[in-house]
Amino acid sequence: MSFLKRSVTCGALREEQIGQEVVLNGWVYSRRDLGGLIFIDLRDRYGVTQAVVQPEDAAAAAATARELHAEYVVAVKGRVRLRESPNPHIATGKVEVLADEIQIINRAALPPFEVEDEVRAGEELRLKHRYLDLRRPSLQRNLLIRNQVYQIAHRYFAGHDFVEIETPVLMKSTPEGARDYLVPSRIHQGLFYALPQSPQIYKQLLMMSGFDRYMQIVKCFRDEDLRADRQPEFSQIDLEMSFVDQDDVIALVEGFIVQLWREVLGIEVTAPFPRLSYRDAMTRYGSDKPDTRFDWELVTVSEIVRACDFKVFADTVAGGGSVALLNAKGCATYSRKQIDELTELAKRYGARGLAWMKINEDGVQSPIAKFFSTDELAALRAAAAAEAGDLLLFAADSFTTCYSVLGALRLELARRQGIIAALAGRYDFLFVTEWPLVEEDEANKRFVAMHHPFTMPFEEDIPLMASEPARVRARAYDLVVNGHEVAGGSIRIHRQDVQQAMFRLLNISESEAQAKFGFLLDALQYGAPPHGGIAFGLDRLIMVLAGTENIRDVIAFPKTTSAQSLLDDAPSAVAQDQLEELGLRLLADKEQSH
Ligand code: AMO
Ligand code: AMP
Repeated sequence: MSFLKRSVTCGALREEQIGQEVVLNGWVYSRRDLGGLIFIDLRDRYGVTQAVVQPEDAAAAAATARELHAEYVVAVKGRVRLRESPNPHIATGKVEVLADEIQIINRAALPPFEVEDEVRAGEELRLKHRYLDLRRPSLQRNLLIRNQVYQIAHRYFAGHDFVEIETPVLMKSTPEGARDYLVPSRIHQGLFYALPQSPQIYKQLLMMSGFDRYMQIVKCFRDEDLRADRQPEFSQIDLEMSFVDQDDVIALVEGFIVQLWREVLGIEVTAPFPRLSYRDAMTRYGSDKPDTRFDWELVTVSEIVRACDFKVFADTVAGGGSVALLNAKGCATYSRKQIDELTELAKRYGARGLAWMKINEDGVQSPIAKFFSTDELAALRAAAAAEAGDLLLFAADSFTTCYSVLGALRLELARRQGIIAALAGRYDFLFVTEWPLVEEDEANKRFVAMHHPFTMPFEEDIPLMASEPARVRARAYDLVVNGHEVAGGSIRIHRQDVQQAMFRLLNISESEAQAKFGFLLDALQYGAPPHGGIAFGLDRLIMVLAGTENIRDVIAFPKTTSAQSLLDDAPSAVAQDQLEELGLRLLADKEQSH
């Protein structure tokens, strides 16, 4: 079992070490047998080093070298020398190790895919063999960035007097927006713990306990529909502070981001970041997490079309809705088929249709042009700053649908036009502020908290909570970069009467509030300081730092979009006696027994 232990890593050797006797340990990346010379590329997490064997001088080493296959774990002993044909792509590329001894430490079966960055294997296969996938330099780099972010976060927040405190993973089910993951209790059969969607309530209680500045890098669990930037379990850098207002939290966050970007990417980010109200973000970019690296701002045209003959537009305005347009610069060349595709996309975002106008040298080309007077057409063109070659896309709908449809088209068309790709390496941070406190859940005819039910309304809007809830603004803020929401937070309610008013507004009865949040309401009456905080989506932050659009690329052992772990096959069936011990019976079994 003993083996030749490494004296250097596979990323260490440079010209300065020429002449030294070294031992490398690592995985065989490739082997090229030229007869008179055998080359072996050896890889570990530090890099790749070329070893070379001359069969004439080292017959035993050559024999071993000829047995090697990809991913064998080996030791190579030899002398560092100048490489005849240097490889400028790797840090060790000027040197090689002339091997006089090679030891096979462990053999490897033929891997199901080649371990290299130009992966051809599908993601499913790679997730099933994640330990092999994680040998790839790009995934290793992502996890090393992740590690760097942990270190910087601990250092930065400790430097600002934050105390790291762990909060429970088994807690009471207090729905925060998403669905809870539940854990059955064995000792109290029929009762359940929930896994935290975030430590929100605990961190507020810690403020009431006087801890003043809390931080934690913490796992959160949400049973929701997954997307490219969502995982069922994900991590937050979670913060809470006492005796602060919005500006204090934002300033602290800006300092952290500046330090992160400086240390991880060597980029100087300029703070303070711009702030955009939720309303402006929606009307200008059609998104509550706008990508502000390019203009293409939406144009509201409700007033221009109020009296036009196109019924869809006029009726929408009369009904209190919005009509807006996106000027897709240079897209007048789009074919009917391409516009139909865009219409389908718009419909997926809830649009009833997508009207369009092509701006040609000789005038406007559009199926709806006939419904507009010359003045109206001129006003639309002027509002859109339209030039020949542009394509105007119109949405007429409720405020949210109208703008989010155009916002989605804005991103899609910018992607198709190559605008987004050309922006790589640029980072535009901003805070979205002045969120509505609540939004209407139209299906269930009730209001739901836009952020969470503990968010403080604007002081001057508190009287509107009972009369015009949709107009109440919240002291909430999201940090957005390049179209990603990377953090969200708010100033919290610290007065019991306001918290109760909030529960009333959300149609949570006093008894329900007592049953669900009684401990929080109780705590609020024993001296709660004004407090607020924020939580970074750690995985999303690392996605941006690592330059990937796939959240699974920055998590060691991620789940698929159907919430499965292909590596260990979770979730999986459990034994009947495990269920019985918990007092559980599956509905499927029950039906079978009937
Ligand atoms: P929020 O729900 O906005 O706020 O979450 C904070 C940040 O966490 C990230 N995030 C996710 N990342 C990956 N997968 C998910 N499923 C997922 N859901 C959220 C986002 C988001 O901005 N307790 C509050 C914070 C506070 O008010 O202090 C909270 O959890 O980047
Ligand atoms: P119609 O009069 O329904 O044939 O629609 C004419 C054009 O207007 C078509 O291109 C529709 O896709 C578009 N349209 C219909 N409803 C809307 C709407 N709510 N917003 C924007 N365009 C619409």
